[in-house]
Amino acid sequence: MMELRAIVSSSSSSSLLHQLCRLLLLPLLLSVSANDAASAATAPLKFGINYGQIANNLPHPTQVSGLLQSLSVNRVKLYDADLAVLSAFAGTGVEFIVGNEDLHNLTDARMARAWVAQHVQPFLPDTRITCVTVGNEVLSGKDTSAMQSLLPAMQSVHQALVDLGLASKVNVSTAHSVNILATSYPPSAGAFREDLAQYIQPLLNFHAEVGSPFLINAYPFFAYKASPGSVSLPYVLFEPNPGVRDPNTNLTYDNMLYAQIDAVYAAMKAMGHADITVRISETGWPSKGDTDEVGATVQNAAAYNGNLMKRIAAGQGTPLKPDVPVDVFVFALFNEDMKPGPVSERNYGLFYPNGTPVYNIGFDGASLSPSPSTSPFSSSSKTTVTFAVGVVVLLSALFL
Ligand SMILES: *[C@@H]1O[C@H](CO)[C@@H](O)[C@H](O)[C@H]1NC(C)=O
Ligand SMILES: *[C@@H]1O[C@H](CO)[C@@H](O)[C@H](O)[C@H]1NC(C)=O
Ligand SMILES: *[C@@H]1O[C@H](CO)[C@@H](O)[C@H](O)[C@H]1NC(C)=O
Repeated sequence: MMELRAIVSSSSSSSLLHQLCRLLLLPLLLSVSANDAASAATAPLKFGINYGQIANNLPHPTQVSGLLQSLSVNRVKLYDADLAVLSAFAGTGVEFIVGNEDLHNLTDARMARAWVAQHVQPFLPDTRITCVTVGNEVLSGKDTSAMQSLLPAMQSVHQALVDLGLASKVNVSTAHSVNILATSYPPSAGAFREDLAQYIQPLLNFHAEVGSPFLINAYPFFAYKASPGSVSLPYVLFEPNPGVRDPNTNLTYDNMLYAQIDAVYAAMKAMGHADITVRISETGWPSKGDTDEVGATVQNAAAYNGNLMKRIAAGQGTPLKPDVPVDVFVFALFNEDMKPGPVSERNYGLFYPNGTPVYNIGFDGASLSPSPSTSPFSSSSKTTVTFAVGVVVLLSALFL
């Protein structure tokens, strides 16, 4: 969190800018040049974003690279290892998680090595690929042959990285749905599904051995949508609420995402592993849904993502691990028009494909007008000013 503290203190000292932003938000921001924005963004925000591309109308990767730099987003997760994207981000310092879902081929050591040699090695070090995810939500699916291939595929990708001298630069992991948990509440009772233990135990041993993170895709939205009558909306949206106390630890949880993260830590500990880091590879909230998708609104999406970003900017950890800042990749950068399924699936983006924000996160009147000294996230509200500058610069860049 050193980088974040650096932003907070440097933006505190530029209090003139901060005051001006509060008084003259939009006109001022519109007049800020890209260079000013770059220097205001002295350090990156510690959150990542999923750059999904299941769409036929997205901007070119070079425009996206400009967008993300202006937002100070320096971590991006891809579902593949798109050569155009990886090339467009060369020299930007943006850190990448790339993916490969071809489990069957990757179990073959030669094919794994060929893939790493073609999709990872040539981009290093100009494009900072720091992690490869093998498969997505494989263990919560129904394909038992994929489940069996998962660890062998991860092992052969890791071996390929070792052989090519890249293992210290690139982690190997896979992203799981929270549905691999049989119990997630109270968090201290977190436990993986028993039928998955045969896959998860050796997987945890692998993570511990190679030192790679355990990745979880977690959507409190799904819990709310399934039982809006019993799940508290403020609790899932990180808004003020009394919280729920875990009777085994006496830790109080004021939001579901942190409870899910700590449930995963508990589940890993029950399998003998207190030595693996949990990261959130996907989380988000749709701004639109079908009529039966309760809670899928612009207001809720803005609250979820905006509140989450403030907590990340403040370096918050979970109740169980207060010193380990939560590590999150938001889903997603753009609305993706070609995703199948309910309307919500095509409406998780922070941006429309033309670069317009779907909603304002953290820099609308509500988050800038209260006195920073009374806000629990006062230091982070300054960070979000930088974020706002970036968004407006992007818009200018795309449309002028
Ligand atoms: C697996 O590898 C074969 C041989 O290189 C290739 O033809 C095939 O497309 C690969 N499978 C997938 C799903 O990419
Ligand atoms: C790999 O993951 C570990 C555990 O999360 C982390 O400490 C390390 O920095 C990661 N390596 C890279 C290159 O990002
Ligand atoms: C939780 O709080 C109760 C009541 O204050 C106390 O009796 C109990 O020992 C506490 N448990 C833990 C694990 O701290």
